[in-house]
Amino acid sequence: MAQLIDGKQISAQVLQEVASEVESIRAEHDIVPTLAVVLVGEDPASQVYVRNKVKRATEAGVGSIEHRLDADTTQDALNELIDSLNNDPGVHGILVQLPLPPQLDEDEVIASIHPDKDVDGFHPLNVGALASGRPSLVPCTPQGCMIMLRQVHPDLSGKNAVVVGRSNIVGKPMAALLLQANCTVTIAHSRTKNIEAVCRNADIVVAAVGRAKFIDADWITPGATVIDVGINAIDVDGKRKLVGDVDFESVAQVAGAITPVPGGVGPMTIACLLLNTTRAARHQLS
Ligand code: GUN
Repeated sequence: MAQLIDGKQISAQVLQEVASEVESIRAEHDIVPTLAVVLVGEDPASQVYVRNKVKRATEAGVGSIEHRLDADTTQDALNELIDSLNNDPGVHGILVQLPLPPQLDEDEVIASIHPDKDVDGFHPLNVGALASGRPSLVPCTPQGCMIMLRQVHPDLSGKNAVVVGRSNIVGKPMAALLLQANCTVTIAHSRTKNIEAVCRNADIVVAAVGRAKFIDADWITPGATVIDVGINAIDVDGKRKLVGDVDFESVAQVAGAITPVPGGVGPMTIACLLLNTTRAARHQLS
């Protein structure tokens, strides 16, 4: 049976680091690192995510300001809010929860956030910095995956890593971080030929496709490390259950180490968001 990589425990360590960094910043500058969270509309999953982000921020001593806007908010109104947050010295990080209602242009919104306050790491300048090997603010989920991987592999150099999924939020930045850590990186996706064989060649598989139990034991070489980014709600015997992109029961029999869902990558993402907020605050104060 694979070693379990415990996201709750590792994220608690990261949150302790965040809390002590908040204390240092307060002692040195008499300010509280503060995150502004913008939620447009009523998407139920987004409401849960935002509530958890604000709750964890409070626990770690990070300030938070919530802005809830109606589902029919215009681009101009949202731009105006982001402008005011960009110019507010009491706000160090800005997160606009995605997805946005259809009348709003996500790319325009992301590009309008000041890169120094872009705690999601989605701004084109931050994306470019990571792609060119000079990471600045790095997307939270891939950053959390790297922290988990380093628990198992302190030195990732030369490992074969396969990232399944090519989203801008997870797959692409994950591949860039693995490359930065000197892995040999393959990105697999829906058009990849013989995807099972590609994955079987991996020392490390990062699953980020958004399909329940997509990857099973046949895809995994014995002893490999498996990081499951998926959070999929499925019905089991009439009850809603959260499962990953990996078929945990079968894969845990062959993998060397694996992250559970829930309690794996999820808590790491929020911890890294708050880590990014303290980093952003440090940078703005220097
Ligand atoms: N929606 C789902 N994941 C994310 C994320 O990491 N950041 C933001 N802003 N929205 C999301």
